[in-house]
Amino acid sequence: MIFSPLFLKGPLKPFLPPPFFLSHPGKIPVRNLYGGTMDFSDIFATRRAINHFDSDRDVSDALLREMVEMAATTPSSFNLQPWSLMVLRDTEEKMRLQKLAMGQVKVSEAPVTLIVLADRKGWSDACPFTEKNFQEMIKAGGMSESQRDWFSKARAKLYGTSEASQLAFATKNTGFFAMALMLAARSLGLHTHPMDGFSMEGVMEAFHIPDTYWVPLLMCVGYFNEEKELAPPKWRKTYDEIVVRFS
Ligand SMILES: Cc1cc2nc3c(=O)[nH]c(=O)nc-3n(C[C@H](O)[C@H](O)[C@H](O)COP(=O)(O)O)c2cc1C
Repeated sequence: MIFSPLFLKGPLKPFLPPPFFLSHPGKIPVRNLYGGTMDFSDIFATRRAINHFDSDRDVSDALLREMVEMAATTPSSFNLQPWSLMVLRDTEEKMRLQKLAMGQVKVSEAPVTLIVLADRKGWSDACPFTEKNFQEMIKAGGMSESQRDWFSKARAKLYGTSEASQLAFATKNTGFFAMALMLAARSLGLHTHPMDGFSMEGVMEAFHIPDTYWVPLLMCVGYFNEEKELAPPKWRKTYDEIVVRFS
C-alpha cells in the first residue's frame, strides 16, 4: 500500500501534522507535504478540473515524464496504445492554442498544456507501432511469427472497417490514457484540466497535426493557484442512475 500519513495509526500518529485538508480547509493536499504520496482514494477525491493555475510554479521535465510514464501503463485494444501527446510550454504556442480554445485563460496560465492525440490508423500495418507491438508479443511468448497475417486481419476487422470504427478505436483508448494522465498527475501533487472546448480543425492546422489523428482533448497540467477559490465539487450520477437495463 502507498504510504499515507492520513491512515497512519499507533504511537507516531500524534507527532504527525494534521491532514492537510483539516489544516487548510478548501485547499488541496499535494504530494511532498508529508514526504509521501497519497492514498488512491485521496487521488480520486482531490482530482478536479482546476480553473486557475499558478503560472509561477513550473512542472519540471522529470516530473512530466514520470506522470506520462505512469499513465503509459494504461490498457488498450491489443495493447496498440494509439495515443500521442504534444507538450506545449512556450508562451507563444500556448497563446496560439488559447485563441483556438475559446480564449480559455488556463491554456496559457498552466506551465504545461498538452494536445492529446488519438491515432485513427493506430491499428493498421501502416503504423510503425503495430510491428513493434507484434515483435514484443513474440518476445513475450504471446504470439508466434505464423500469426502475423491473422493479427493483421483481426485488427483491420475489429477497428478498420469504417470511419466510425477507426474513430471509436482511437478515442476510446486515448480516453483511458487521458484519465490515467489526470490520476497520475494528482498522485504526483499536480493538477489538470481536460478541455474539449476548442476548434479541432483550427488546432490541427495551427500545429501541423497529420490528419490520421483526432484531437479528443487538450489538458492543462500544473499547480492550483492557492490565491483563487476552488469551485465547489460537482454533482455525480448515483449507482442507480448509472446502472441500466433494456428490454
Ligand atoms: C472531455 C472533457 C472536456 C472538457 N472540456 C472543458 C472545457 O473545454 N472547458 C472547461 O472549463 N471545462 C471542461 N471540462 C471540465 C468539466 O466541466 C469538469 O470535469 C466537470 O464539470 C466535473 O468537474 P470536476 O472535474 O472538477 O470534478 C471538460 C472535461 C472533460 C472530461
